[in-house]
Amino acid sequence: MLADNLKTLLATSFSLYLKSANFHWNVEGPSFPQYHEFFGDFYADIYGSIDPIAEYIRALDTYTPASLTRFTELTLIEDQIGQLPVMEQFSELLADSMTLLAFLNETFKVASAENQQGIANFIAERIDAMQKHNWMIRSILKTAK
Ligand SMILES: [Fe+2]
Repeated sequence: MLADNLKTLLATSFSLYLKSANFHWNVEGPSFPQYHEFFGDFYADIYGSIDPIAEYIRALDTYTPASLTRFTELTLIEDQIGQLPVMEQFSELLADSMTLLAFLNETFKVASAENQQGIANFIAERIDAMQKHNWMIRSILKTAK
């Protein structure tokens, strides 16, 4: 059911938002300004997707999960409580972004199958945004090798 997909998508997006905010706040290294800004842009983009997802869930006539307990139950992304070196932060961000992208692709199919074209359109835009983020993270990881 599309509403169930959107609940998982909401929790996963919230987790990724929080993790990238963590990296934005705690990143260290000689290129600090660029990394700090990159993580900042990333989390701002993900954050911008959270309210629309939550409201689409309501539009489908079900309630929106909105607690850390529910998000922990629903998310596809593992929490990070440690302080990682910057390239490990980017590796983890890429893996998590790929997880989110794969789930967006799955959710697009469900939205289309349920004839929810408006939601499918929103999801398609998020797929586009995540593909762009992933390209940038891959490029950062490559120059560091
Ligand atoms: Fe900031």
